[in-house]
Amino acid sequence: MSVAKLITLNFRNLHGAAIEFHPRLNFFVGDNGSGKSSLLEAIFFLGHGKSFRTSKLDSLACHETKSFVVSVKDSNDCQLGLSRDITSGLTTIKIDGQRHNRLSVLAKNIAIQIVTPESFKLFFGGPKERRRFIDLGMFHVKHDFSNQWKSFNRVLKQRNACIRLCARSNSIADNNMLSYWTEQFCQLSIDVAQIRATYVAEIITELNYWLVILLPSLHDRVTVQYLQGWPQKKSLIDVLTNNQDREASFGYSLYGAHKFDVKFFLDKQAVETQLSRGQQKLFLLALTFAQASFIARVKPVKPILLIDDIGAELDVSSRTALSRAIDKLDCQVIITAIEASVLQPFLDTCDDIKYRMFHVKHGKISVIYPDNSELNTSEKVI
Ligand SMILES: Nc1ncnc2c1ncn2[C@@H]1O[C@H](COP(=O)(O)OP(=O)(O)OP(=O)(O)O)[C@@H](O)[C@H]1O
Ligand SMILES: [Mg+2]
Repeated sequence: MSVAKLITLNFRNLHGAAIEFHPRLNFFVGDNGSGKSSLLEAIFFLGHGKSFRTSKLDSLACHETKSFVVSVKDSNDCQLGLSRDITSGLTTIKIDGQRHNRLSVLAKNIAIQIVTPESFKLFFGGPKERRRFIDLGMFHVKHDFSNQWKSFNRVLKQRNACIRLCARSNSIADNNMLSYWTEQFCQLSIDVAQIRATYVAEIITELNYWLVILLPSLHDRVTVQYLQGWPQKKSLIDVLTNNQDREASFGYSLYGAHKFDVKFFLDKQAVETQLSRGQQKLFLLALTFAQASFIARVKPVKPILLIDDIGAELDVSSRTALSRAIDKLDCQVIITAIEASVLQPFLDTCDDIKYRMFHVKHGKISVIYPDNSELNTSEKVI
């Protein structure tokens, strides 16, 4: 699946854009503040129901407007639309004209992955972003993961509430309740950790293939460690029993499947302490490609890869390696750049008909390659 056409109405500075995409490769070039990241944000919003830049959905509406719309027609002619009304605070999801209530339906229809200039700092900066990354992939490829994860979070919430209750009252009834939720929590943690371990192992196999292309001189020095969320060789119930007092003072569960992490090493040292910024970005791209190609293999909907400001951090040889990787990735890719010149390695790799290039200026988008006036949907205000 790929995005065939995108329409935005009052989405940030994209007042009214209608863009027809190439099924494989699309470049958007424009000055600072022209609307490139906003365009990727609009596509990301359709896949996730949220932004990669802000948690405040209302700030996505064009200044002084009270609603915005993003809609996509995919290559199978399926129409996916999301709109938000700021006054009521409601987001409306429509798939082929039918309303849906849950954002999770979006992920069944569209799988969006994004890499921005900030991504690698967040990814290597702490476990939160790594957890988000892995669970996004799991959600797409492990069918029962979503339900299991929901049950896990429900039990986690109950257990945390019980920990706080016991810390205050210490009654027998509350302690019995905590034992009950702890038992449930341990079982679900073990189940979730097991599916994750399988998934991470599958991604590691894919990762090596992309590292050979993107970081050829380093790939054989990389190792990956999956941490399940409690000491590997200990049983979770023992760990929780031994940490009862600590959990009571913190007021939440200190161990369990929610505390998992995946760490990456170069010669046994954390990659973020060994790799340059450009190399870290390439490493994260390799990981993203690994996840995207894995999703593409097992899911009926192919992922769409968004790369914002491709020139940032990457020199010409890194961009050449990246263009080779993109050529091998069987997914739609949408790339933004401030200067067209940074795209040269990608254009050299593509043959003429394999891409479309757009210019972005003050929120207006026009096709600059191929030079075909029929494609020129710019300036069309909906
Ligand atoms: N809610 C909004 N309504 C209208 N305009 C907005 C809104 N939010 C941001 N903008 C403006 O939209 C413009 C486009 O921002 P965007 O981040 O998409 O630019 P960009 O092309 O990615 O720039 P850069 O190359 O610097 O990353 C900016 O001028 C920004 O100030
Ligand atoms: Mg930007």
